[in-house]
Amino acid sequence: MCGIFAYLNYLTPKSRLEVLDLLVTGLKRLEYRGYDSTGVAIDSPDSKNIVMVKRTGKVKVLEDAIKEHFSGGEYSEPVMTHIGIAHTRWATHGVPCERNSHPHRSDEGNGFVVVHNGIITNYNDVKTFLAKRGYEFESDTDTEVFAKLVHHLWKTHPTYSFRELVEQAILQVEGAFAIAVKSKHFPGECVASRRSSPLLVAIKTKSRLATDHIPILYGKDTDSGKPQEIRPHGQTRELPVLPRSDSTSEFMPEEKEVEYFFASDASAVIEHTNRVIYLEDDDVAAVRDGTLSIHRLKKSLDDPHAREITTLKMEIQQIMKGNYDYFMQKEIFEQPDSVVNTMRGRVRFDGNAIVLGGIKDYIPEIKRCRRLMLIGCGTSYHSAVATRQLLEELTELPVIVELASDFLDRNTPIFRDDVCFFISQSGETADTLMALRYCKQRGALIVGITNTVGSSICRESHCGVHINAGPEIGVASTKAYTSQFISLVMFALVMSEDRLSLQQRRLEILQALSNLADQIRKVLKLDSKVQELAKDLYQHKSLLIMGRGYNFATCLEGALKVKELTYMHSEGIMAGELKHGPLALVDDSMPVLMIVLRDPVYVKCMNALQQVTSRKGCPVIICEEGDEETKAFSSRHLEIPRTVDCLQGILTVIPMQLLSYHIAVLRGCDVDCPRNLAKSVTVE
Ligand code: AGP
Repeated sequence: MCGIFAYLNYLTPKSRLEVLDLLVTGLKRLEYRGYDSTGVAIDSPDSKNIVMVKRTGKVKVLEDAIKEHFSGGEYSEPVMTHIGIAHTRWATHGVPCERNSHPHRSDEGNGFVVVHNGIITNYNDVKTFLAKRGYEFESDTDTEVFAKLVHHLWKTHPTYSFRELVEQAILQVEGAFAIAVKSKHFPGECVASRRSSPLLVAIKTKSRLATDHIPILYGKDTDSGKPQEIRPHGQTRELPVLPRSDSTSEFMPEEKEVEYFFASDASAVIEHTNRVIYLEDDDVAAVRDGTLSIHRLKKSLDDPHAREITTLKMEIQQIMKGNYDYFMQKEIFEQPDSVVNTMRGRVRFDGNAIVLGGIKDYIPEIKRCRRLMLIGCGTSYHSAVATRQLLEELTELPVIVELASDFLDRNTPIFRDDVCFFISQSGETADTLMALRYCKQRGALIVGITNTVGSSICRESHCGVHINAGPEIGVASTKAYTSQFISLVMFALVMSEDRLSLQQRRLEILQALSNLADQIRKVLKLDSKVQELAKDLYQHKSLLIMGRGYNFATCLEGALKVKELTYMHSEGIMAGELKHGPLALVDDSMPVLMIVLRDPVYVKCMNALQQVTSRKGCPVIICEEGDEETKAFSSRHLEIPRTVDCLQGILTVIPMQLLSYHIAVLRGCDVDCPRNLAKSVTVE
């Protein structure tokens, strides 16, 4: 989804060209989120105006345009304080084109320019309100109304500070947003805010920060002006005046020189600083005279007094491709390490003990629950499908698996004694987050399973497991899936710790977990064989992937990978359903891949295999090493090492990840940023 990157240097001289360079690098780090156009805004050389450059397509196109546009020597002059804002846009309202790219401006004079991630749902009402006051619109976006609304407020409330203007505008808009605003009327200042879309502020100083938190200011700054509310069809209503802020405390670094970054995620700032503040919904962060303040208009009883400054653990190497051609490829090959990192410090193989620090205090409550609900989207949902059977077996509780979007559509009944797991790599997926809030309001216990520390799902959960897979940049989720899978397996093991009858089973699983990294390494050695298979398949239109039991999730996940990366049709089919319809698709020209392992459903899978081959189907088979009987059914097979049934899905999904990757490369697709998709889906 859209990416925001803004940079402010205070008393740290930088030329505009250097600032532009920083902005472009920031955007490059956000490319993985998915986007279709880009843009930047900086000050003109005389600092009296704002200059914008926007382009459709990749950041590289913008970078070239910037080189062309800002060639004059005046852009090389260092400036003590400057603000630049930049954006990658993922089209929601209006097609991808320069006119719809961000930043959007308030007026022809570029008084206020805005970058935005999310959707302003009442933008039509705001647009009508502004149109009645003479504003003309130049884009099809929802964002433009925000820039013009700030401008309108500035004209009608000339005493408002920049931050107050943005605050008043925020009061009027509904929906999800993260925004950063720059203004030529308020040089040296930047204001940013968020609601349901991620945004962080990063701080860079020469020496260590003397504080680890920033106090929050509540209330209004001045008594000036009566706030209004924009109603449907641009009607207005006056709002009660909020109390004045009672505090003047702000964050000022020890030394005066400071640089601030506003970004949609940490990967854009980690090469500059590891000190960040994750903004909460309706926080307004403003920098003025080098001082950062975080402000909220209203205070409720349980609101905190300060926002914590977090130290990121991420390393710059983690977000670089290294020797790999694509992030996805790197992430597939990282899995022997990422699965170990998921278990690190949690599983003690010598003592057969597992401790999940993030949920251990809640285990007694979870054991008393009515049912477990696992909720997610896409790949994260598949990790729930993959582990459901084991969770049912080891917890002896009903386990319900839900797609977040469908769960919300149905207004699903939720009870106070439900335990709801929200599984999300990014921790920001809008549907999953909405479902979380829905369940929280109804009193359920909320458990987050995420890969992103500081994400909304992380912060809004009562407890959770951080999967520790490391940053995942490729839009296609790979290592996060196997780490989510293992996190849920570890949870099942914790829940069955005191069940005597399950000890043998637990030992078997723990033993298998300890061998997993080596077995993944072995599966990865199939890479060149998978590449050959991809050469057979890449020109086809469709690929059916069949399996059942513990491997059904691999079929769904494999088909999702093929679809999103290669744009080929693909379907994950429950082998038990073959005779109920899908068998009609099978003939000698339909590509089929079947997963047939020596587990409790082996005989049934063989049955399905026979049904396929007797219709002249020639499937690729994923089977266990040395399983001659199964291999005899086809000349094309991939052999994987044997492991316990409930972990097979980790080993069978890796050939599917490799296959979709190789087909995508052969078809010339953009592996890391498939068309129309975004890494973090922050709109519903
Ligand atoms: C998987 O390859 C996808 N890109 C997608 O299905 C993803 O898993 C889904 O959007 C959920 O994302 P999340 O895990 O960040 O919530």
